[in-house]
Amino acid sequence: MTEVDDRVCALLESHWDDARGYCVPNPTTYPHLWLWDSCFHAIVWAHLGDERALRELDATLAGQLPSGLVPHMRYGGKRSDSYLGPLEATSSITQPPMFGHAAKVLAERGFMPSATTLDRARRGLDWLWRERRTREGLIYVVHPWEAGNDHSPRWDDFGAPGRTPEHYSRPARTAWNKDRMYDVSFDDAGGANWSSSFVVCPAAFNAYVAFNLAELAELLHDRELASRAEQLSETIDALLWDQDEHLWSDLPLVGGGPSSKLPTSDGVMPALVTADPAKALAALRQLDDPDRFGAPYGPANVARSHPSYDPSTYWRGPAWPPLNYLFWLAARRWYLDGAAEALASRSIDGALQSGWAEYWNPEDGIGLGAAPQTWTGLVIAMSNSNSSGGVPAVLSPSEGVSEQ
Ligand code: GLC
Repeated sequence: MTEVDDRVCALLESHWDDARGYCVPNPTTYPHLWLWDSCFHAIVWAHLGDERALRELDATLAGQLPSGLVPHMRYGGKRSDSYLGPLEATSSITQPPMFGHAAKVLAERGFMPSATTLDRARRGLDWLWRERRTREGLIYVVHPWEAGNDHSPRWDDFGAPGRTPEHYSRPARTAWNKDRMYDVSFDDAGGANWSSSFVVCPAAFNAYVAFNLAELAELLHDRELASRAEQLSETIDALLWDQDEHLWSDLPLVGGGPSSKLPTSDGVMPALVTADPAKALAALRQLDDPDRFGAPYGPANVARSHPSYDPSTYWRGPAWPPLNYLFWLAARRWYLDGAAEALASRSIDGALQSGWAEYWNPEDGIGLGAAPQTWTGLVIAMSNSNSSGGVPAVLSPSEGVSEQ
């Protein structure tokens, strides 16, 4: 074991709850199960060679509603302090469905998920396809908490308070997010299905769905899922590519405005799935460009030259370990080995410098948010770039592309 492996192992051990079968993201700040966090935890366990990978993936999907919706939270003990819908044990909204990718990584590392877990994962993706798809073929979310990046400047024009660093206030934005839950409507099973104030097809969320469809398709040899992945990725390119920013932008359906095109690194995520080398490279190269997202402990989550950029404020500029991990996968998919190595080394430096924080300032690596945070253990996947697994093969470009 390397020093990073040792540190990651200690981190996961200290956040593991054996009775519940999962790691909390942080015992004080985040004492429940969160969907995409636990998928990332399962990946970290698999890299540690620990069978708790399987238990954590099972736990992630165990709260699935009969409809197929996988809730973004399962409450550990008492309910969340925020209103998250009518259900008792789980929230009624979802989060990026990273369980398709997690299942594939686990299988590649010798931890084959059970048939029940794989069936749940497939039904989770089926639900998004069936219940959350527009006529044009994009996937939508009904609350910023579903998107994973709840204070992003991309949500500013949905009526949220505070845009520039001088006017933004985290408590005011949190209160606004809490109020938005009362605009959400639910189906008979208690799953969120629409909102009167916030419905949007985010580029990143669509990329996450397409990516997880492709990953699960490959694991299950499932042609239907593979064809959905391709279809979604083509629609993302056709409807969301922004030729001015060279990023993928979001498409608002209820609310929203120009902030949907704001240059955030979330707009790079479709590089995980696009079949278009020109778009992928134009977007991915910005992760290193100092005028865009390139920062010493980056990538920054908001373009450094943009007036909204605030390197120390939650989802308004800092670097986030799960995003770095996904960018790293995307860079490897496009054979950008140098860029992938740089992402790995900045992520490891950031994790160490920040004290394994939830997120950090991309300019100086100072830790922000909860610390330590379990998902920061993802650097273990990046710390050995020769390790097998994790490179998405389905939808991979057939030829290598030069970095120059
Ligand atoms: C914050 C993040 C969300 C994450 C959760 C638990 O709410 O915005 O993406 O899942 O914390 O870590």
